[in-house]
Formats: sequence, structure tokens, C-alpha cells
Amino acid sequence: MIAVRSTEIRRDFPLLKDIIYFDSAATSLSPEPVIHAMNEYERLYRANVGRGVHRLTSLASQKYHNAHQKVARFIGAGEGTTVLTKNTTEAINMVACGLSWKKGDTVVTTAMEHHSNFLPWMRLRDRGVRTEVVVPQADGTFDLSAFELAINDSTRLVALSHASNVLGTVLPVKEIAGICKEHGARLLVDGAQSAPHLPVSIKDIGCDYFCFSGHKMLGPTGTGILWMKDDDIDPLLVGGGMIESVSAESYTLAAGYQRYEAGTPHIAGMIGLGRAVEYLEGAGMDSVRRHEEHLTGKLLTGLASMEHVRIYGPTDNTERIGVVSFNIEGMHPHEVSHILDEAAAIMTRSGEHCCQPLMHHMGIPGGTVRVSLYLYNTAEEIDLLLDTLAEITRRL
Ligand SMILES: Cc1ncc(COP(=O)(O)O)c(C=O)c1O
Repeated sequence: MIAVRSTEIRRDFPLLKDIIYFDSAATSLSPEPVIHAMNEYERLYRANVGRGVHRLTSLASQKYHNAHQKVARFIGAGEGTTVLTKNTTEAINMVACGLSWKKGDTVVTTAMEHHSNFLPWMRLRDRGVRTEVVVPQADGTFDLSAFELAINDSTRLVALSHASNVLGTVLPVKEIAGICKEHGARLLVDGAQSAPHLPVSIKDIGCDYFCFSGHKMLGPTGTGILWMKDDDIDPLLVGGGMIESVSAESYTLAAGYQRYEAGTPHIAGMIGLGRAVEYLEGAGMDSVRRHEEHLTGKLLTGLASMEHVRIYGPTDNTERIGVVSFNIEGMHPHEVSHILDEAAAIMTRSGEHCCQPLMHHMGIPGGTVRVSLYLYNTAEEIDLLLDTLAEITRRL
């Protein structure tokens, strides 16, 4: 295994000179090569894509198209369509709005979902679509038999996270894909927290839709991806750039990703995202995973040894990603997060993490403090966090 070279990597993230960034699950930082790729587009060949024939538009179109291919390769897509969206939220809503639903259809989801993978299905209740919510066990993992019970022949779609943004739990999506196939149900996987951190092969998972956010994987904000096995949803928007032909009476949609990208897209963003996945490939996703697993183990051990600290989610760092939620007895998560920033410039996320159903299920309406790790974090940073937390708990 080649280790992630954190020292070299950190030079690409100037912000890390002054702060400790433990909030990559909300949005990651972008390295210099990604910023450079976007600037290059702006400075050297800015033009619209898929429109016209002049040299700038040809170059921009080529780079934009290549970026789609790089992203598809990164997620092991093989076939299918890789569409640029604004973020995971837009990608999931595109599926919810684009499928033709009928009364009595059921969507199976879980109580661990981000609101982005919950509200789009709840909203379908107005159209007679039922939602069935599978709940996690006390340790934050799922029993496959709960999905076997919930998924049946009236299940039209199963929509769940690959990895939880609160508990870090990695869900058995491949096994769930098998259950979906038995019942003819489609599977949507929310990969917002898996694509940035785990080697992902969509072909291996066997899902129908895979959604994730570029900004959580070193890419720019305003970028996300919807991958589809078949082009079987209606486009959310119609207009320029997505048609084969239009007459006064009718129109024919273009094939491929263009069909789903009406209007001028975030061109610099997609080019930046293409560079971001190359950067991750350069580091090696297996190495990224091992690095985060190591840091997560260290963090979990340190937290578990502290009095007044309660950790949520699986305790085995091989069954989870580098997202660790905890609380300090008697303190609000916002208070803890604020002190970490003030005392040691440590950025953590606090609150409900857009997962109120999960917080209700776990009986912690105020939420948690969340530490989320990435390839640029180091063991020394974990030590500093643990020392600062120890100081906070000593004062209790
Ligand atoms: C699991 C999961 N799904 C969906 C989202 C929504 O992502 P975005 O805000 O980029 O749409 C997030 C964001 O934190 C997430 O963690």
C-alpha cells in the first residue's frame, strides 16, 4: 500500500497553514491544481460548450466532454450517462421528478438519510406514492433482514446513502441491490459521502442511479453528478443545448448527458471536477481510504478514553468512513464546536447535519459535534483535537 503523502498534499491546500479543517463532509477544500484548471478555462479558452465551431468553443467543448469521461471512469461507471448537476440534492430531485409515478408505488428509504434524500420522496406522497422508512440498529448499522422485509413487489425505488454523513456507517448497498433485483425495484444510491472517500465501482454495486457532490471531493462548489444506468427519466428542465431538433410543432431530445443539461452549464466547475478526480486518482483511492481509516481509528480510541464523551455510530473503523459524531455531557454541540475554533482553530460541524429524522430516532434533538476527515488531515491534527477536548472535559 502506498501511503497518502500528507506533507506534499498539504502544500496544495494553502488554507491548512492556519487552521485544522475537520469539516470535509460539509464541503472539502480544493487543491491548487483544481483552482488552476478552472482559472485556465477562464483565462485561456473561455467560451460556451456544444455551440458553434470557433477554436475556443471547440477547445472548451472538448475539455468539458473529457471531464465527464474522467468522472465516469473515477466511479467505475462502465456504461450509462454521467450528468453534471449543481449538487447531490439536485441529482436526487431530478430522479424524483423525472420518473413517472403511479398511485400505490412505494419508495423505501432509511431514517439515516440526509434531508436531500428524504424530502424528494416525502413530497411524492401528494401523488399517492408511499414511503417506507427502515431504521438503523442501536449501533448505527443496518440489519439486511430489515430491507428484506421492507422491499416487496410494490417497491418502485429504494433510495439510500452509501455512507452516513452523521454516523459514518457504510451501508451494504451491493447486497441491497440484490434484494431490489429480486423485486424489480430500482436502486438510487446517494454517494455524497462515499465517492470522495472510498474506491467506488458503480458496476460492482449494481445500482440504477448514483448521485454525489463534486464540492465534497476536492472539486468546486456548484458541482454534482447524477449517473444513470439508463436514460429513463424525463429531464427536469428543457431549453437550449439539450435537443437534437426543434420545429414549431415538436422537439427531439439529444442523446447522452446533453439531454439532461439544459442551458449553459457550470463549465469551469465541470473542468475543475475532472481535475479533482484526477488528483484523487493520483493519491490513490485505496490509499485515501487506508489513511482515513487509520486516522479514524486513532480518533475513536482517543474519544473512547475520555470521560463525559459519548460517541455515536459503529466503533469498528473498517465499517465506517472518517465521519465521527460525538457529544460532551452537559454541553450543546454548538458550544463545543465554537470552543474548538476559538481555542485551536479547529473547524468542526455541529448541529443536526440535515438529518433531523435520525436525530429524533436517536433522541438527540440538539445534534452532535461532527469531525470529518480527508486525505489532507494528519495524526498530529487528531492529537491536537484530542488534547483540546481533554482540556474542555477537564473543566466540567
Ligand atoms: C449523504 C449526503 N447526501 C446528500 C447531501 C447533500 O449534498 P449537497 O448539499 O451537495 O446537495 C449531503 C451533504 O452533506 C450528504 O452528506
